[in-house]
Amino acid sequence: MIIISISDDKKWMVKVEAGKEFHTHKGPVVLDEVIGLEYGSSIVNSKDATFFLWKPSPYDYRDAITHSTQVIYQTDIAQIIFTAGICSGVRVIEAGTGSGSLTSALARYVFPGGKVFSYDFKEKHQKVARKNIEKLGLSEAVDFKIKDVTTGFDEKDVEAVILDMPNPWDVIEHARDALMGGGKLVIFVPTYTQVDQSLAKLVENNFYQIEAFEVIRRDLTTRIGAIRPATRMIGFTAFLVVARKGFSLSEER
Ligand SMILES: C[S@@+](CC[C@H](N)C(=O)[O-])C[C@H]1O[C@@H](n2cnc3c(N)ncnc32)[C@H](O)[C@@H]1O
Repeated sequence: MIIISISDDKKWMVKVEAGKEFHTHKGPVVLDEVIGLEYGSSIVNSKDATFFLWKPSPYDYRDAITHSTQVIYQTDIAQIIFTAGICSGVRVIEAGTGSGSLTSALARYVFPGGKVFSYDFKEKHQKVARKNIEKLGLSEAVDFKIKDVTTGFDEKDVEAVILDMPNPWDVIEHARDALMGGGKLVIFVPTYTQVDQSLAKLVENNFYQIEAFEVIRRDLTTRIGAIRPATRMIGFTAFLVVARKGFSLSEER
């Protein structure tokens, strides 16, 4: 897979196969001409349009993902990966899979040696997610499961559980059963009411080091000599609640 861009804001993720062409509104890119070039190179096509070739990073996966549900975007994904401590070798549970946007980043970071156990109770969502993960060549790192997670998880001793679903408080007890001591639980929810209900259950289930926050990104225009905040921004996505599984000797906190 490579990224082909025609400008700073128009790009595509493309599978490079000999003998094929990639068609754009500025004419075709002959993929045979791309093979063997260094990332960062540019080529000119038969319609005189210039295309740049880039190596994809997890930040670019969004361009390859078909959406069947609401998805988590890069700014929140970055925070989730960092706060949950996702790196190679880690075993992590996520629910629900949705379109697999978060799954793709988790899969890339647990590789090699780790595993993402990705649960959803809707088969049709997971079908789209599976295709997205296959397209990115990350299937080896993901174990997809069709299950209502309010009935529990199959794994034990995972390092992190990430919940992006409407009623995470119904799953906190099961997350506790699946997590190793000190393991991280990350909850992604869009309303204060959901944060409130989640916090109550976290306390009840002996989770500690609790933090709740939102991540806001404000872009700058990049026109030299006229740099200032962009007039449009995504004002809100959702809140993150992060906590660690602990063992307490008394019920007092
Ligand atoms: C907003 S989507 C998740 C999006 C995903 N994080 C992404 O980035 O693409 C929420 C998903 O949770 C699933 N879901 C909701 N409740 C569930 C439950 N009790 N058990 C399993 N999956 C559930 C839904 O079917 C839906 O696919």
